[in-house]
Amino acid sequence: MKLYDLRSDTITKPVPNMRKAMAAAEVGDDVYQEDPSVNRLEEMAATLTGKERAIFVSSGSMGNLIPLFINAGRGAEVLTHANSHIIQHEVGAMSAIAGAIPIAVNSPRGLLTAAELEPLVKPRAYDLARTAMIEVENTIGGVCYPLSQLQEIGGLAKRYSLSVHMDGARLWNASVATGIPVDTIAAMADTVTFCLSKGLGAPVGSMLCGTEEFIAQARAVRKMIGGGMRQAGILAAAGIYALEHHVVRLAEDHANARKIALTLLETGWAKLELENVQTNIIFFSVPGFTGQQVEHTLVKKGILCFGDREEVRLVTNLDLSVEDTEAVCAILRELNLSDFNT
Ligand SMILES: Cc1ncc(COP(=O)(O)O)c(C=O)c1O
Repeated sequence: MKLYDLRSDTITKPVPNMRKAMAAAEVGDDVYQEDPSVNRLEEMAATLTGKERAIFVSSGSMGNLIPLFINAGRGAEVLTHANSHIIQHEVGAMSAIAGAIPIAVNSPRGLLTAAELEPLVKPRAYDLARTAMIEVENTIGGVCYPLSQLQEIGGLAKRYSLSVHMDGARLWNASVATGIPVDTIAAMADTVTFCLSKGLGAPVGSMLCGTEEFIAQARAVRKMIGGGMRQAGILAAAGIYALEHHVVRLAEDHANARKIALTLLETGWAKLELENVQTNIIFFSVPGFTGQQVEHTLVKKGILCFGDREEVRLVTNLDLSVEDTEAVCAILRELNLSDFNT
């Protein structure tokens, strides 16, 4: 039985031409900043995000942790969404390593608003923790922030001298889906991280972008937490290839996700908010069943996915073709509510 892997967009394997670029990469010692491929990738990332400098880090989690460490730190509060990756999926690093305190906001669809955040900014007082940062995740659950909402949050941050970090693990999905250039989206943030190893299809790595001064500090923190890599140009070459060849095609992942979402709605047994399927992520539920039960049934039919107590997540990706998407839709159409009892 063929398996269709919709667990995440992290599962993709480097395409043959990406592997060729990796094999041919010029390399050097990146801890000494002597790797030409890493240097080139960092310049590309800085230019594309409109920031002064960028640094290649091993993962999105590291790209989030470093700004939390530098711009928030011990005993400082970070306003972020309750479902954000930094709260839910980074093993508590923001507190365990950076020492920061998450203030979780439960706004609809994952999207923070300046109006909700403003009352949470603490006044300066001898007995209060310092509010240091607003962290926005874009996309969050596949949903893109409207630009005006981001700009209002940026304005709030300026008024209160807060730093803004954007977890843009899927920043390129947000840009392709909205048609807004990445540098325009990232303009409200002091620091932004985006992942090469998700929709863009590189095997490893993320970029962290910010001011020259911030990136100099980030270089030291990266080394401190064991993230200094040596001949990392082999990986950077994959990142360069991804930025040059895999951005525009994200629209295909988005179209495939929409096709699957529409098919799920047609089945009659699935519940989902179509307006939230804006990029490559679909969340749905089957009333009367847990997400785990639904996952169990789908896996038996060849669709790999993740289910939690309530919902199931499907993520379209570079390794799922249009034909694969049709096959997934055909499997979904054949399923009946009674199949989830097994
Ligand atoms: C929104 C978001 N941020 C950060 C990360 C962390 O990326 P990594 O797995 O490379 O640490 C992920 C990973 O899935 C993510 O989805």
